[in-house]
Amino acid sequence: MSYVTEQNITDVAAKRWSSGKTPREAQLYSALVRHLHAFAREVELTPEEWMKGIEFLTATGKLCDAKRQEFILLSDVLGLSMLVVMMNTRTATGATPNTVLGPFHIEGSPELHMGDDMSAGAKGTPCFISGTVRDLNGKPVEGAKLDVWQADGEGLYEAQYPDLNEPLLRAIYTTGPDGKFIVRSVDPLGYSIPMDGTVGGLIRRTAISEMRPAHIHFLITAPGFTPVITHLFREKTDYLETDVVYGVKQELITPFHKHAAGEKSPTGAVMKEPFVTVNYDFTLVAEAKSKAA
Ligand code: BEZ
Ligand code: FE
Repeated sequence: MSYVTEQNITDVAAKRWSSGKTPREAQLYSALVRHLHAFAREVELTPEEWMKGIEFLTATGKLCDAKRQEFILLSDVLGLSMLVVMMNTRTATGATPNTVLGPFHIEGSPELHMGDDMSAGAKGTPCFISGTVRDLNGKPVEGAKLDVWQADGEGLYEAQYPDLNEPLLRAIYTTGPDGKFIVRSVDPLGYSIPMDGTVGGLIRRTAISEMRPAHIHFLITAPGFTPVITHLFREKTDYLETDVVYGVKQELITPFHKHAAGEKSPTGAVMKEPFVTVNYDFTLVAEAKSKAA
């Protein structure tokens, strides 16, 4: 019996890991081993560097709890989340593109009615997002649920306020028979991803901008349709081309129109203060067709 050499250890380990319980596990484990070894070989990884890597991963894990997910953030800034999203949502032309979920989505948001305010008193200019959810043939989708969330005027999400017990800037809206929805929120700002953890430390070791362009998140579901996880981005805003998590798609950039006090909002109410409106139609793909190339 001969033991491993520097030359053959990758083949030996990959073969061992190809004994995964299912064919897919075997593929995943052995490919992971091959690519990790390729990385170490390419950069001639030193023991000190690998120990720093292990310390980084350990500290990243320790930061994770029910409210904070530093590993999702790591995956996001490495572009891996967006790559996985794009490979798994090769939907038909005309469908609303998917983008990253991010670490700040919270399940079980309050169900609100058309035009209700989800801002829970958060500071900011009122913002109305209205439109229609349609299928690929342009037919309105009734009963689509739009789970909406965004950051406040400080660039922080509810999950970043440890003592907050009320929902902040998140809600679920349901379309009527005409597929229409009206969300009331506040005008979003660009913001920095959390920089107080291991990912922030890593970003600071580079010239990468930590900023995301102003956006609002949507997770849209409807019976018989493939769910869409997406954002709407303000047109002509900063950081669209350097989004730290690579989440921007041209189709998701849209105008945020300014209105003066005294004008009517999409709900028909006359507003006593300036506000902004966004009009955007989402297009869903029927379940069976969603993997079409
Ligand atoms: C967000 O937009 O909520 C987000 C997405 C990815 C990483 C950090 C924040
Ligand atoms: Fe966000």
